[in-house]
Amino acid sequence: MTTAAPVLELRDVSKSFGPVVALRSGSLRVEAGSIHALVGENGAGKSTLVKVVAGVHRRDAGTFDLGGEPVDFGSTAESKQAGVAVIYQEPTLFPDLSVTENIFMGRQPLARGRRIDRHAMYAEAERLFDRLGVRIDPRRPAEGLSIADQQIIEIAKAISLDARLLVMDEPTAALSGVEVERLFAVARSLRDEGRALVFISHRFDEVFALADTVTVMRDGEYVDTLRIDDTDVDQLVALMVGREVGELFPKTPATIGETVLEVRGLSRAGVFHDVDLEVRAGEIVGLAGLVGAGRSEVARAVFGVDAYDAGSVSVSGKPVRAKDPRAAIRAGMAFIPEDRRKQGLVIDSSVARNVAGAIRRGIARAGLITTSMENRATAPWASRLEVKTSALDMHATTMSGGNQQKVVIAKWLATGPKLLIIDEPTRGIDIGTKAEVHRLLSELAGQGLGILMISSELPEVLGMADRVVVLCEGRVTAELGRADATPEAVMHAATHHPEPAA
Ligand SMILES: Nc1ncnc2c1ncn2[C@@H]1O[C@H](COP(=O)(O)OP(=O)(O)OP(=O)(O)O)[C@@H](O)[C@H]1O
Ligand SMILES: [Mg+2]
Repeated sequence: MTTAAPVLELRDVSKSFGPVVALRSGSLRVEAGSIHALVGENGAGKSTLVKVVAGVHRRDAGTFDLGGEPVDFGSTAESKQAGVAVIYQEPTLFPDLSVTENIFMGRQPLARGRRIDRHAMYAEAERLFDRLGVRIDPRRPAEGLSIADQQIIEIAKAISLDARLLVMDEPTAALSGVEVERLFAVARSLRDEGRALVFISHRFDEVFALADTVTVMRDGEYVDTLRIDDTDVDQLVALMVGREVGELFPKTPATIGETVLEVRGLSRAGVFHDVDLEVRAGEIVGLAGLVGAGRSEVARAVFGVDAYDAGSVSVSGKPVRAKDPRAAIRAGMAFIPEDRRKQGLVIDSSVARNVAGAIRRGIARAGLITTSMENRATAPWASRLEVKTSALDMHATTMSGGNQQKVVIAKWLATGPKLLIIDEPTRGIDIGTKAEVHRLLSELAGQGLGILMISSELPEVLGMADRVVVLCEGRVTAELGRADATPEAVMHAATHHPEPAA
C-alpha cells in the first residue's frame, strides 16, 4: 500500500486569546480512510486545534492544508463548504424543527412552485439513516432526542454534505455503552468509505478500540504521532503528562463517625423504589449500577432538585424538606451533578463569581459584597485545588473540563458542607487531574466529610468507596463493604432483576 496523501495537515499552528496561549505549536496529519485519535490532558489545546480546523478560530501562525491546498477559514460556513464537519459533545440542533429539517437546514430541495419538497427530504433522510444503520424517525422534532441521536443527526448532515473530514470532540462523554458502540460502528463505516476522522477522547479503551493512529499533545504543543498497534496505555500516559502520574484511587482509611445522611424508603413511581441509604462522617459511599438504574435520579431527589412520592431524607438526624434544594444546602448538603456544564456551574460567570456564589449569602449577612471580599473567600479553596490564579478571572466557558470540575468542587467546599453528593466526578477528566480529584475526595473524607459518589467506572467505585450500594432498576440490590465489593459481586447485583415486572 502506498502512503495516502493527507486529507488534513496542520503544522506549528498557534493561537492565543489575549495573554492566554491556548495553542503553542499544534501539528496534525490525518490521512483518508483513517481514524486518528487526538489525546492530551485537560487544557492541552485539543479543542482549540479543532476550532481552528472548524473555522471557529483563526490561527495566529502555522500552516493549514486541506486536501493538499492551503486554507484559512474565517467562519464555520467556510469550513463546511470545504468538506469539514465537526461533531461536538453536545450538538446544537434546532429543537422545534424536525430531524429532517435539521439535516437539510438552508438547502431544502424545492418542488414545483418553489415549495419545499418534504417527501424528497424525508426519503433522503431515511436513506442516510439506513446507510448509517440507525433507526430515527425523520419526521419527529429534534426536541427530546438523546444526545447520542443528536450526534447521529449531525453525522447524517455531514454525510449529506459529503464531508471528507469528520472531527469528533469528546463525542462519547455523555453516551451509554450501547450508544458508544453504535457511534463506533458508524465511525468505522465512514472510515471504510475513505473519509478521514479525528476522534478526541479521555478514555484509553475507546482510543485503542477505534483509532488506528494517535497524536499526543501537551501544553499546547505537538508531542508525537504513533500507530495504535505500536503503542500502549503506559506510553501514551507518559507522553501526555511528561511526569509521574499520582496514584489513582488513593482512598486512605478514615475514622467513620456519626450518620450524616439517612434516606429511608425513598420512592418515586416508575423511577426508584423503597431506597434506603446511609452515609456517615468520613465515609465514601459508592452508588453503583448500570446506566438507567436510577442512581442520578435518587441523588437529585435526595438533594431536593426532584420530588419524591414517599420516604424521608434527614441530615444529622434532622428531616430535610422535600423538593427544596435551599433547605438541603442549609442542612449541609452539597451536590455536584453529572452535567456540570448545565447544572453545576453558571457558565457565563467568572470563576471567582462561581465560587463565591455559593457562599454569597454568608458574606452578605455581614454587609455589602465587594469583589475583593469575594476573592478573599475564594482564594484559599482555589489554591488548595491548584486552580491557577490567572484562571480565577477566566470565564467558565473557556476553561478546560478538569478545571471546571475543580472550580465546582471549590464552590461547594466554601459552603462548609457535611455531605457531598458527587455524580460521575471524573467523567471527561484527564488522568492527571483524575488522580488529583481522587486525592482530594479522599482527603475531604479524612476531614470528616461524608461523600456519596456515583460512578459508572467500576475501578473508581471499588477503589474509592468504603461501602458500595448497588441499584438495579430503581431498587437497592446489594450493599457491600469494601472487602466484599468485588467487580463480580457489583456486576451481579447491578444486573440482577430485583422483582419480576408486574
Ligand atoms: N476562548 C478562549 N479564551 C481564553 N482561553 C481559552 C479559550 N479557549 C481555550 N482557552 C484556554 O486554552 C487552553 C487550551 O484549551 P482547550 O479547550 O483547547 O483544551 P483541551 O485540550 O480541549 O482540554 P479538555 O480535554 O479539558 O477539553 C486552556 O488553558 C483553556 O483555558
Ligand atoms: Mg476540549
